[in-house]
Amino acid sequence: MIIAVDGPTASGKGTIAKALAAHFALPHLDTGLLYRAVGRQVQLVGGNPDDAHVALAACDFADSLLNDDILRSEEVGGYASRVSVHPQVRRALYERQRAFALQEGGAVLDGRDIGTVIAPEAQVKLFVTASIATRARRRWLEMTGRGIAADLAVIEADIAARDERDMNRADAPLMAAPGSVVLDTTHLSRDAAIKAAIAAVHARAAAETLRIRPFDDSLAKHFHDINAEWIAEMFALEPTDREVLENPREKIIAPGGDILFVEAHGLGIVGTCALQRTAPGSFELTKMGVREAARGLKAGEFLLAATIARAQELGASKLYLLTNRKCAAAIHLYEKLGFVHDAGIMADYGARYERCDVAMLYKGG
Ligand code: C5P
Repeated sequence: MIIAVDGPTASGKGTIAKALAAHFALPHLDTGLLYRAVGRQVQLVGGNPDDAHVALAACDFADSLLNDDILRSEEVGGYASRVSVHPQVRRALYERQRAFALQEGGAVLDGRDIGTVIAPEAQVKLFVTASIATRARRRWLEMTGRGIAADLAVIEADIAARDERDMNRADAPLMAAPGSVVLDTTHLSRDAAIKAAIAAVHARAAAETLRIRPFDDSLAKHFHDINAEWIAEMFALEPTDREVLENPREKIIAPGGDILFVEAHGLGIVGTCALQRTAPGSFELTKMGVREAARGLKAGEFLLAATIARAQELGASKLYLLTNRKCAAAIHLYEKLGFVHDAGIMADYGARYERCDVAMLYKGG
């Protein structure tokens, strides 16, 4: 999986990219460092960063420069922003970034043009942004925290100038790539931003690998087998289970309910879930099963969200489910997507299954 993280300076994209790399165990490249190294090299030779020839010659910088802390300074950042305007420089740095993106197993890259130029095929593209005032304050806190004297107004003006240059250059301007998820971190803490980014990656990955299939009779066997397997393994199949599993068209579809399936790329049908209409506007969410093979793909969450949406399409004013405490992972998921434990549902419907000791009602997510 290639994850592209783009955004303006001090938006939090570097922090987010690092956290995503750690979370998904992928290698990470901060591409800004390459431009900073070129800028630093120009500075070292006393050259003019606005001169394309000088900037191109500086692309031959020694790799050891990449570990120099001075690259992180505002001054070098300014040089980087100026050398990065030259198409010759961007071309010279292209192959290195491209090879990193295409390595086996995938990678996380952060920069300005990862989703647009370096890896437009990235499965996940994030565009991280925040207001200029917030970004300036973050940079100021970071600098004063490191004991560097800094003036907030100067930093703010500098960030605005850098945005202007990055967004308006002719070659690979900074912009959200088509199809990217925009993450505005202005009002988010560091942890909340990371959490949102991880959730966005999961959602994109799921959309890439998973798809919902509607009921048709050729899929009835999957409805039976997937559910019969997990119910028999954890409990015992009750007559009411058999009746539904063996006659889905008659027991679920004909009375106005529905059955959905989730298919995973390369694995086929991996899960299913039914909506049984029990009275006008009243639906029991039942027979939700996901195969072991799909664990880790978030197929259950994907399927449950689709089933809740389907219940709403069918006009459900009451959506409930009956289960057992042993199904802890599923209960956690039901809670996450808006179901709450409900004594009234237990009193009204709990007797339907011997194994029922948990009853939940959908209250909305
Ligand atoms: O992200 P960072 O602030 O370290 O980047 C320094 C400068 O390098 C940016 O202001 C931008 O002009 C340039 N850059 C770029 N394309 C990238 C990464 C950075 O033009 N992919």
